[in-house]
Amino acid sequence: MSEHVTVPKAELHCHIEGAAPPSLVLRKAEQYGVDVSPIIDARRRYVWTDFTSFLQAYDLASSVFRTPADYAELSETYFRMLAAEGAIYGEVFISPDHARAAGLSYASYVEGLATGIERAKEATGIEGRMIAIGVRHFGAAAVERVAREVIAAPHRLVTGFGLAGDERDGHPANFAKAFRMAGDAGLGLTAHAGEFGGPESIVAALDFLRVKRLGHGVRAIEDKALVERLVRDRIVLECCPGSNTALGVYSVLRFHPVNLLRKAGVRVTLNSDDPPFFHTTLGKEYSSVAKTFGWSEADQIAVTRTAIESAFCDAATKQRLI
Ligand code: ADE
Ligand code: ZN
Repeated sequence: MSEHVTVPKAELHCHIEGAAPPSLVLRKAEQYGVDVSPIIDARRRYVWTDFTSFLQAYDLASSVFRTPADYAELSETYFRMLAAEGAIYGEVFISPDHARAAGLSYASYVEGLATGIERAKEATGIEGRMIAIGVRHFGAAAVERVAREVIAAPHRLVTGFGLAGDERDGHPANFAKAFRMAGDAGLGLTAHAGEFGGPESIVAALDFLRVKRLGHGVRAIEDKALVERLVRDRIVLECCPGSNTALGVYSVLRFHPVNLLRKAGVRVTLNSDDPPFFHTTLGKEYSSVAKTFGWSEADQIAVTRTAIESAFCDAATKQRLI
C-alpha cells in the first residue's frame, strides 16, 4: 500500500461531473455521438486554458451523462477511487442544471447518483452524501429553482445546498432567498467564495448566505480581520490547493495560503474539486500539502477530523467515522 493511503481522508468539495475520468467521458461520448475532441486530447487528458474555458469543458463533459445508469456509473467510479485512496467519507456537489441540460429530471439524476454511491459503499464501506448546487452564472432564478427542486423531492443522501460557478458573476445578495429556503429545509449550506473573488466576496457570502463552510475561501488570507472572523465563527474552508494552482490562483503550491490559514487557527480541509481536470486526486492533495508544508500524519488526521465534524451528515454517522 502506498504511503498516502494509510492516512484516513475525507472529501467535502468535489464536483461529480468534474470527477469524470476522460476515458469514461470518451466512452459515453462515442455512445451518444458527441464530439469531445475540443476538451480531451490524444493522451486522454482534459484540455482547457483558463477558468472560463475550464467551465466550458466541464459543461461539455457533463453533457455525455444522460441516464440514471450513466450517473450511477460515474458516482460508483468516483467513490470507489476515493475509497482506494484511503477516504472514509465523501460529499459530492451535484448540479441539477447540468442534468436537466442533458435531458434528465432532478429525481432521476439523484436516483442514479445514489445507486452508484450505495454500490461503492457496499464494495468499500465508504460513506457518501450529495450537495445540490446552483450555478452562479446561470442567475438567481436558476439557483432558486434548484433550491425548490431539492426541497420538493427530499432524498436521504442529499444533505446540502451550495453555490458554484463563476464567482465574478452576480452578488451573493441575489442568492440569499435560495439559501434561506434551503437552510430552513435543514440542508447544510456552502458557497464558493474567495477563489476568483477577494476578501469582499467572502464577507458577502458569509453575510448574505449564512454559510458555515466556504468553497475555497483561501483569499481570506488577504484580510487579517476576515481571518479573525473565520477563526471566531469556526468557519470551515474547503481548500483545493491543486485546483487553485492549476487554475493559476497561486503560481505554485508553496505560495498557497492553506498552511498560513491553518497556523492562524482557521479550520481547513483538503479537497480535489475537479480531480482529472486538475491532474489531482484527494490522495495527492494530502500528500503534496504534507510534503510542501511539513504536515505530519497527525496533522493530516486532524484535517480529516475537521472535515468529518463539519460534514453534512447525521451525528450518528459522524460518531462512527471519527
Ligand atoms: N464548478 C466546477 N469547478 C468549479 C470551481 N473550481 N469553481 C467554481 N465552480 C466550479
Ligand atoms: Zn469547486
